[in-house]
Amino acid sequence: MRILVAVLMLLGLIAAPAAADQARGHTVAYDKYSLTVDGRRVVLWSGEFHYFRLPSPELWRDVLEKIRAAGFNGVSLYFHWGYHSPAPGVYDFSGIRDVERLLRMTEELGLYVVARPGPYINAETTGGGLPAWLKTVEGRARSSDAGYTAAYREWLSRINPILARHQVTRGGSVIAYNVENEYAVNVDPLYMEQLQQKARADGIDVPIVHNNCCNGDLANWSSGQGAVQIPGVDDYPQAFNCQDPGTWGTWGEGVTRRLRDDAPVYAAEYQAGAIDLNNAGYEKCRELTGPDYMKVYYKSNIIGSGATMYGYYMLHGGTSWGWLPQPNDVYTSYDYGAAITESRGLTTKYDEFKRQGYFLTTVKPLAKTDSSPAPGPADPAVFTQARTNPDTGTQFVLVRHADRRTSADVSTVLDWSTPDGSYSVPVRVNGRDAKILVAGYDLGGQRLVWSNSEILTHVTVQGRDVAVLYGREGEQGSTVLRYNSAPQVRVLEGAVRSSFDGKDLRLDYTHSGLARVLVEGGGRPPMLLMLGTDQTAAQFWRLDTAAGPVLVRGPSLTRSAAVAGDWLVLKADMDQAGEVETFAPTRRLVVDGKLVPARRTPSGSLVGRLPGPRPVSLSALSSWQYRAEPPAFGDSGWTVADKTTTASPIKPKTLPVLYADEYGYHYGNVWYRGAFTAGGDEKTVSVNAITGKRGNYLVWLNGHYLGSALGGTQADSEPVNPDPGRGDFTIPEGLLVKGSAATLSVLVTNMGHNDNWTADDTRFKQPRGLFGVTVGDAKISWQIRGASNSDVERGPMNTGGLYGERAGWHLPDRHSRWSPAPATMPAGVSWYRSTFRLDLPADQDVPVALRFGDQPDRKYRAFVFVNGWNMGQYMPGAPQRDFVVPAGVLGRSNTVTLAVIATEPGALAPVSLVALGNHWTGTAAVDQLG
Ligand code: GAL
Repeated sequence: MRILVAVLMLLGLIAAPAAADQARGHTVAYDKYSLTVDGRRVVLWSGEFHYFRLPSPELWRDVLEKIRAAGFNGVSLYFHWGYHSPAPGVYDFSGIRDVERLLRMTEELGLYVVARPGPYINAETTGGGLPAWLKTVEGRARSSDAGYTAAYREWLSRINPILARHQVTRGGSVIAYNVENEYAVNVDPLYMEQLQQKARADGIDVPIVHNNCCNGDLANWSSGQGAVQIPGVDDYPQAFNCQDPGTWGTWGEGVTRRLRDDAPVYAAEYQAGAIDLNNAGYEKCRELTGPDYMKVYYKSNIIGSGATMYGYYMLHGGTSWGWLPQPNDVYTSYDYGAAITESRGLTTKYDEFKRQGYFLTTVKPLAKTDSSPAPGPADPAVFTQARTNPDTGTQFVLVRHADRRTSADVSTVLDWSTPDGSYSVPVRVNGRDAKILVAGYDLGGQRLVWSNSEILTHVTVQGRDVAVLYGREGEQGSTVLRYNSAPQVRVLEGAVRSSFDGKDLRLDYTHSGLARVLVEGGGRPPMLLMLGTDQTAAQFWRLDTAAGPVLVRGPSLTRSAAVAGDWLVLKADMDQAGEVETFAPTRRLVVDGKLVPARRTPSGSLVGRLPGPRPVSLSALSSWQYRAEPPAFGDSGWTVADKTTTASPIKPKTLPVLYADEYGYHYGNVWYRGAFTAGGDEKTVSVNAITGKRGNYLVWLNGHYLGSALGGTQADSEPVNPDPGRGDFTIPEGLLVKGSAATLSVLVTNMGHNDNWTADDTRFKQPRGLFGVTVGDAKISWQIRGASNSDVERGPMNTGGLYGERAGWHLPDRHSRWSPAPATMPAGVSWYRSTFRLDLPADQDVPVALRFGDQPDRKYRAFVFVNGWNMGQYMPGAPQRDFVVPAGVLGRSNTVTLAVIATEPGALAPVSLVALGNHWTGTAAVDQLG
């Protein structure tokens, strides 16, 4: 039997429809309504995913499968220049940077890609995606200046050919190319034009798009020099006020503007989460951008703008591991309050995406609509707006409160002239809600006259239409269908009344659970109509197979389906044991390689039961070992710091220039060592350092700890602060002896590089490191030591210049010379290490995090290394205490190493392992123990 199942699975997988046809290119075109592929209209329902925020390529597939399962037919992908380029002329596309592998996955899954290679991407990542080495290049970044042009051409010459190979026009997935990013102020049209010339010269032939900032009046590239074919708009109507999740529409109505008459309306980045600007925690951001917001804003936009291209930002945020974060707005987690959490869990936002996405991708007339008169509500408290497909006449009507802030419960009627006659249609809007109602729609072989329930999706299985409509629990619903003669109506489940007036079959019901009605005869093919609620509708999965789309109900996730003869082969996840029901042209069922006994139901479906995950337990982290890193320890790897000029427009307070980037040290902490001959009467060490927000520095003189200070931030292009990150440290009596050699040691954090949203070098080229140091009149000669950049696998943003990092103390195989951890650590750098095993069932996906105890007043920061991978920075008091570690980084045997920088002596908060989910996946869909 096993073999049979394996063969069936193979058959099933081969039969999977999704993989792009590499052998054949397709024609991509567009008009004012939508993109087309080989003349077929495509509503591009996509959202953003950052491969660089998930350093585990196996899990890229997990996230992409989840995205597809929610009904998305595309993903929007930034490509991060700095992530691939540690130094000028050096580029890496291997391992976790293998974007070709990522693109192949999108092709296997049948997802279109909007490729967004920048060169600038913003994205709350260091330098906004620009490599830090660019800070030492003359010429304004994001302009047509020569130095910058030569630099970005290096990048585009590498990334463009990869993208070109994977275009839809060559049988791949890339359907559009996003040039630059919100290029809105300080713009240089020649640069925009040259970027596009370069793309074309490199073989890009799909439409070029741009994401205009903010739905406002800034440059949008819809005409003139530098104009793009499809100018899109970014919109974040809820702003980023996660601390106040009840706010509503801080940044406006969120209806995407039409920027060109000959191109589709493109909601390039539409808010689907938020950065946690005010440290409220991401659950609050998820609430701010939750299902009620999604219903009101997304649906208002669909009908208000007629957009047919969407990129929701973000669908899965991920982790700004290592030194990926941009310093001023974010911390390690980039969960974003997104529909799919950082630990890859599905949320109620995911359900709402599914409800809207299935509708948008099922109901084809939506791809071509014009705005049209809307049916008037009897009560003006309700607002309506409509669009109509000019070919089919199908009407789409938005219903919501006129005042989108109100939480009132209003019931009224619409006086609706549908293509099939005039009707009085009852509607209700209760609280923050919006609905898109449809009239005059050929639903499979049926004619939907109108319904005040919303359409989830429908499929045709063996000549029978199976449709799912839904409404809010407890709300009245009516659906009217047209027949030549009275059809036979059988209510299989639930309470549904039916009446036939000679042409219209009217069904009336209250949305509750899942009602089922069989309609047969009446001159049309049979139909199973299921009438659900938001919750029961979200239990359905619609999947494409070679035998046409099928429906599955029950699993927590259904990743794929294939039909092989009489077998339906599913890949699904279960969070608890339960039912699986399938609507497919098959009589047998295989889920995750297991035969599932199933019985036929009166609905014509198959029903079986699937197991849930077994409980798991994680070991405690104990037996911490310890190693100290004395100030400016070790004599190797130092670089003399003696430069007197810099490409940065910000000039230093004292010479030599001590900016870390000038010496090739771009990411992580750097040590400085200054040697001078003491005059004996120096009283103070005065330091200025620029670190980015939340950064600090620590100072020692002759090995004696003088103290620490916060680094300067210089986040924006305001007048340059002449005295950033100032710290004055008193020299203890007797520490300096006249005429003798003295050593100053300074450890400076580099929290990452400023972004460059304003295309302004005084912002982007803000230095990192020491800005000025004075010790009386002493002439100090300097050395600097940063990252060794020898770790090609993990890349340049994994480690900085701590001695332990250079010596590999964070790596799992360096076990010697550690001793039991003391109860407290001194100020300075301490290293801790512990090991643990993960014995998790191979058929379960258990996302794991390291959790720090809640001790907000501790005075240290810890860099979290797991098996050598820097999974982020913990700071007591900051909102993040859980550090997600993806499978792939985690294995069966694991080493966790903490590099701790303490500004005062103290104890380390307890650290434990936590499971952030437990999903039965059947097969090793996720190779947890790779
Ligand atoms: C947009 C930008 C994105 C991201 C987002 C906020 O302005 O294009 O890259 O930064 O804002 O998360």
